[in-house]
Amino acid sequence: MEKILVHGGKTLEGKVRISGSKNSALPILAATLLTKEPCVLQRVPDLSDIHYMLTILGRLGCEVERASGVVRVTAESITTTAPYDIVRKMRASVCILGPLLGREGEATVSLPGGCVIGDRPIDLHLRGFEALGAAVSVKSGNVRVLAQDLHGAEIFLRGKFGSTVLGTDNVMMAAVLAKGTTIIDSAAEEPEVVDLANFLNKMGAKIEGAGTRRIIIEGVKELHGAEHEIIPDRIEAGTFLVAGAIAGKSVTLTRINPRHLEAVVHPLQEAGFLFESGDDFLRILPGNSRKPLHLEAMPYPGFPTDMQAQMCALLATTDGISVVTDHVFPHRFMHASELKRMGANIEMNEGTAVVQGVPKLEGAPVMASDLRASAALVLAGLSAEGITEVNRVYHIDRGYERIDEKLNDLGAEIERVKA
Ligand code: EPZ
Repeated sequence: MEKILVHGGKTLEGKVRISGSKNSALPILAATLLTKEPCVLQRVPDLSDIHYMLTILGRLGCEVERASGVVRVTAESITTTAPYDIVRKMRASVCILGPLLGREGEATVSLPGGCVIGDRPIDLHLRGFEALGAAVSVKSGNVRVLAQDLHGAEIFLRGKFGSTVLGTDNVMMAAVLAKGTTIIDSAAEEPEVVDLANFLNKMGAKIEGAGTRRIIIEGVKELHGAEHEIIPDRIEAGTFLVAGAIAGKSVTLTRINPRHLEAVVHPLQEAGFLFESGDDFLRILPGNSRKPLHLEAMPYPGFPTDMQAQMCALLATTDGISVVTDHVFPHRFMHASELKRMGANIEMNEGTAVVQGVPKLEGAPVMASDLRASAALVLAGLSAEGITEVNRVYHIDRGYERIDEKLNDLGAEIERVKA
């Protein structure tokens, strides 16, 4: 086990190169199951979640090769039951259901457990598979889907928290080889869904409308191998923007798509920060004053729930009263209690955090819980008085490629030590 020691008070300046998107690479790796031919993916980030997905693909019978950021997968002959011991470690494993169902007509995957950010149901995924003609059963912790022939259908994919990202991915991947046309209404509009649709189309699928709430998929006979470069990670990028806001003089993010970050830049501009941008870079600079915010996390193109914890770390030392609500995962506030250990003044009521800014946080030992809450604690430590010790760093390594090294290259002073 390792922990991260953040020595507060350093000023960040310089450039940081953003990695490929974890939340795009995971479903795209699953999509390689849809063809017997080799697929080559570029800019795959080096993360433990990616390692888990590659292990699952290997255990299903795929040939998996990785050389730095390039991954080659060949799913020539595969089994359709994912091993519990790996699947239980990562909810996103659920996105192998769709491609296995699409290609083999069956799949058995252990049900994703809940996690600290809240309940993680898959009822919308299963509703989609049933609409395509699959029989769904849940038995002793496993979900099993079975279909003789998958047929096109019109599917409404909206739950009480809006659409579902991996649910949209799963239904898309099950529908690409189905007979006939499938319409997904109330689809998730995230850029990672668009990236998956672009990859599937390179494999020979016929998908239109990805990125809108209505996706149309015309089933085809088979898919072939393809090459694809994963899009930049907009959440890693947003996390570094907040690092620049908390402790930066001038922080520039390179190799990104600024259009994917509009919902993060806008509140930071409202909070008083200045930006310069180009086709593939974004720079954040301090403004003359900082303002509190009313923030509502919601499905894309709204403010992302995966950036909510990081913004709380910034608002904790923003003078005035900020209000943060997460409409996607209403209980995703594990970071609040840890930030309060550092002196933050945060009151929770009914899924809303009321943050009264304090002049400075104090470094303290804190516990990482989920991936983004852990990143938020590192960010809070950047400007805290003294040393912040973030335990259970494995949470961060799930979704951030060498975040301590990248922050140190910007001027932070962060040590990674054995716990
Ligand atoms: C994806 O998870 C992301 N993970 C999450 O990022 C992200 O927070 C989430 O989308 C929302 O943007 C990956 O892409 C690997 P959802 P996903 O299905 O697809 C409810 C991170 O930090 N729901 O869009 O699992 C659900 O409970 C991770 O990188 C149902 O009710 O999320 C939630 O309230 C964390 N029934 C809401 O919908 C379902 O069948 C959105 O969930 C499915 C979901």
